Amino acid sequence: MNGTVELIIDGKPITLPTFVGTEGEVGIDIATLRSKTGAITLDPGYGNTGACKSAITFIDGEKGILQYRGYDIAELAQKSTFIETAYLLIYGELPTAAQLAEFSGLLTDNEMLHEGMRHHFEGFPPSAHPMAILSSMINAASSYHPNLIHAREEHFPCHAARLISQVRTIAAFSYRKAHGLPSIYPKTTLKYTENFLHMMFSYPGEDCELKPEIVKALDLIFLLHADHEQNCSTSTVRMVASSRANLFASASAGVCALWGPLHGGANQAVLEMLEEIHREGDDGTKFLNEVKNKTGNRRLMGFGHRVYKNFDPRAVIIKEQCDKVLAQLHKSDPLLDIAKKLEEIALHDEYFVSRRLYPNVDFYSGIIMRAIGIPVDMFTVLFAIGRMPGWVANFKEVMDDRDSRISRPRQIYTGATLRTYKPLAERA
Ligand code: CMC
Repeated sequence: MNGTVELIIDGKPITLPTFVGTEGEVGIDIATLRSKTGAITLDPGYGNTGACKSAITFIDGEKGILQYRGYDIAELAQKSTFIETAYLLIYGELPTAAQLAEFSGLLTDNEMLHEGMRHHFEGFPPSAHPMAILSSMINAASSYHPNLIHAREEHFPCHAARLISQVRTIAAFSYRKAHGLPSIYPKTTLKYTENFLHMMFSYPGEDCELKPEIVKALDLIFLLHADHEQNCSTSTVRMVASSRANLFASASAGVCALWGPLHGGANQAVLEMLEEIHREGDDGTKFLNEVKNKTGNRRLMGFGHRVYKNFDPRAVIIKEQCDKVLAQLHKSDPLLDIAKKLEEIALHDEYFVSRRLYPNVDFYSGIIMRAIGIPVDMFTVLFAIGRMPGWVANFKEVMDDRDSRISRPRQIYTGATLRTYKPLAERA
């Protein structure tokens, strides 16, 4: 139930309304705090700040709960597909058969990049990170659709489908470009995830084999990444959208925020960490000691989360899937053994236990991606493909909110106070 809370600021009481979410989370509405008291809140990293009300995704980090539009992630992982879940996130309800067919049709209709975009790919050096290419090319794609800039509501389904569909084409093209391979165009007969694998691994005149277990594993990875409420990249998307920038510009900014190793880039960092441990013949003990002693500021990548203080439900599903995929492909991976050993030690170690650090979504996902032949520098790109529906849903929520204002945080200034300019000759 909504109520009020009384705060005493500088000895003076003020009353502020509270807002209670559908899962019982209480927010103190401080919209009038500054006008009433002259004070603002200070919350670096936003650990205690609710930046918006949202009806898309619910997380209870204490209990390890993640729900998209009220559906538990484990149930969706078992019963749904990435594309059905994408529809759910964007439009709020599971689609009917007709709605799903229409959505899939829009994805297919919009899968091809404008041919002019091929020249942009040529401009990148072979050393370009695929995340740099992805972000630039999403933005470049917006220039081929000028009607995006003043998009009207009725155009939204088409723009949303175009972004979700083309991000996959751009990702595959960037991989092919980086490896000096000919680009493979999407096939209208293939479904979303199959089509991505086709564009990644086929050759002109020779289609790659689409093993159902690989398609399923990748589809699950996309689904598990599809949204995660107000994380760094989604907040970035919402912030850019709040200035009324277009969908593609907002998503392009999201890709940049996702790239960092503390966020989506952690999946690449985990694999590199495991490779290093393996190369050095360490069983993980030496590495963990360095982490705990904070030698060289190292972290156990793929561990810890701002919100999950119990376990990350996505990590549990991905770990299970990891064993399954390796068994189905008759593969073993020494990096999986190292990862399991690290987890085993960390979960019983005072350093990790006292800080409530558990494996997150990135800890095991890279091992699956590696098993299906995805190169390490594409891992975060796959995270971005998966996250696109969540960004689209959050963009839509900002645009649909009649009360939405431009995001513009304040600050507590700590710099020099007013001083006068000294000509160059007088400066020491
Ligand atoms: N390894 C070692 N120590 C850690 C780790 C870690 N992975 N994560 C946090 N800590 C320690 C940290 O050093 C600090 O210790 P102390 O109190 O002694 O200073 C304490 O735990 C609290 O850490 P924090 O940095 O204040 O926590 P945060 O909520 O700001 O950061 C995080 C969350 C995810 C950035 C962090 O846990 C981390 O860097 N993890 C490794 C990177 C990673 O796996 N990121 C992927 C996150 S999940 C996917 C996604 O949504 O992006």
